[in-house]
Amino acid sequence: MEIHTIGVCGAGTMGRGIALTLAQAGYSTLLFDLNPDILASARAQHERELEGLVQKGKVTADKKEKILALIQYTNELENCLAEFFIEAIVEKIIPKVALLNQLAELNHGDCIFASNTSSLSITEIAKQVLHPERVIGLHFFNPATIMKLVEVVHTPFTNPDVLSTTLQLVKQIGKTPVQCSDSPGFIVNRVARPYYIESLRLIEEQKSNVEQLDRILESTGFKMGPFKLMDLIGNDINFAVSCSVYEQLGKPERLQPSFIQQQLVQEGKWGKKSGSGYYKYTSS
Ligand SMILES: NC(=O)c1ccc[n+]([C@@H]2O[C@H](COP(=O)([O-])OP(=O)(O)OC[C@H]3O[C@@H](n4cnc5c(N)ncnc54)[C@H](O)[C@@H]3O)[C@@H](O)[C@H]2O)c1
Repeated sequence: MEIHTIGVCGAGTMGRGIALTLAQAGYSTLLFDLNPDILASARAQHERELEGLVQKGKVTADKKEKILALIQYTNELENCLAEFFIEAIVEKIIPKVALLNQLAELNHGDCIFASNTSSLSITEIAKQVLHPERVIGLHFFNPATIMKLVEVVHTPFTNPDVLSTTLQLVKQIGKTPVQCSDSPGFIVNRVARPYYIESLRLIEEQKSNVEQLDRILESTGFKMGPFKLMDLIGNDINFAVSCSVYEQLGKPERLQPSFIQQQLVQEGKWGKKSGSGYYKYTSS
């Protein structure tokens, strides 16, 4: 199947990075979000990141303009016409299903619907979407422009052509696809849960503090300490993923989500994107 235009829904932390990656690979890209301010901030971030590449000599000024011209920013659902969609909206099944069904009604019969969910069951999403055979999981990592790995999650309903088109697309944009089963947290988020949860327990038990734990873990070779990483991911998203994996695995004590993180979420301290989390940030 030929893909010319790709729609990305949700222009937050992930959607904006995925959209830029697609445009850099030459795809006509549609970035849809309900919130016009988020779209404006995504546009400004794209401009900044590309300008950074121009300054480093990695991209010409002309190429920068061509990449930007490939991205259409919209808050109108009616503009969402594409051959392939990647949704990166809130980590909740009901809004994801509602959006995918709206897109399915608007678009033609071959359109593929990918979800960037970190933890929700792709099979459960597919079951509730008009065309379950065209639903697939496509889990990018943060920052999407940099991280190479993409988990590709098929379900018992997924059409084999949808899987092969998706795997090809991931390679086409310079990423490394890894096929994984549809199980809670897939591979990476399942393995990573204790990294966050145990670190939070140490804080709850007052055995260490945020700065010290980040420093120690970074000195042992982790690229980012757990608290810096949670702030980058977004504490609202990370907490939702922790809750989802915990529930789906039958609530094992070792994966119980942290009260500290829940409190940060309730206080709006979502990390880098909101200006504060475990740390304070001057710009989101
Ligand atoms: N943050 C991460 O590190 C990360 C990594 C991999 C996957 N994910 C997954 O990606 C998805 C998005 O996460 P995020 O961190 O980018 O979230 P985010 O909160 O930064 O952005 C979500 C965006 O979706 C928009 N939105 C909400 N409902 C919408 C709708 N119905 N239609 C259009 N736009 C809508 C919001 O306005 C917001 O801008 C989640 O499923 C998350 O689990 C996140």
